[in-house]
Amino acid sequence: MNESPVLRGAGVSLVLDGAKILDGIEWTVRGDERWVVLGANGAGKTSLLRIAALYQHPSSGTVEVLGQRLGRTDVRTLRERIAFSSPALATKLEPSMNAAEVVMTARYAALAPWWHQYTEGDRARALDLLREWRCAALAAHAFTTLSAGERQRVLLARMLMNEPGLALLDEPTAGLDIGGREELVADLATWARDRARPPLVLVTHHLEEIPPAFTHALVLKAGKVLASGTLNHTVTSEILSEAFELRLIVEERDARYTARLA
Ligand SMILES: Nc1ncnc2c1ncn2[C@@H]1O[C@H](COP(=O)(O)OP(=O)(O)O)[C@@H](O)[C@H]1O
Ligand SMILES: [Mg+2]
Repeated sequence: MNESPVLRGAGVSLVLDGAKILDGIEWTVRGDERWVVLGANGAGKTSLLRIAALYQHPSSGTVEVLGQRLGRTDVRTLRERIAFSSPALATKLEPSMNAAEVVMTARYAALAPWWHQYTEGDRARALDLLREWRCAALAAHAFTTLSAGERQRVLLARMLMNEPGLALLDEPTAGLDIGGREELVADLATWARDRARPPLVLVTHHLEEIPPAFTHALVLKAGKVLASGTLNHTVTSEILSEAFELRLIVEERDARYTARLA
């Protein structure tokens, strides 16, 4: 417990086109914690993750990632140590790439294979990661022909290519059927339990998708922190009802959460 922070935001605000998207966010993620970020559509979850991934500069406040302060360090070097996956990324990948190339190109955070030179070591690592995520047989298959669940596992393998210090996942279950979702939740729970893997931050708006072994939640509402802390203190009927402006009953059973209307 009490490992040093891998991510720290203090007074983080974001104004875009005159609109306040994030407002005074205070958030610290430590190395032994696994966080879920919850909130209604438009609450600011993706914006906050993009700031943490150093793809978006905050309008004010300080951001520290992996012990480096944003603004006092080379952003490009630091960014290579942060793995970030989002539905938007998957659509930007060059469609002719096979699964192995999708993983391998993460070496340079590239969206296509032809801009960089890759070593045999890079190729071998990509294949090892695909094997780890049960996708070895798909290495030569075009990424676009894979099922949604297979694509998501390839993207998880891609996230680990550079041995990142922090992994950020924005709505990875989008487009998955129930089987695919449950498989992914189980995979993320396995990741969360494995101390050799980087700390994980997962954005979702479905409580059903909080993997067991996750420890903390940040609940956003209209760009502000509504609640932050351990799951049992934050994923409650009272807090989620306020976050989603609905009267919700939140229940936990066998480390899985559900929400329904009161
Ligand atoms: N580039 C932008 N310019 C102006 N407003 C934006 C931009 N990107 C997002 N927003 C607005 O910021 C708010 C938060 O968006 P987002 O971070 O995507 O929320 P979430 O991921 O929680 O659904 C939304 O109201 C959205 O419309
Ligand atoms: Mg979003």
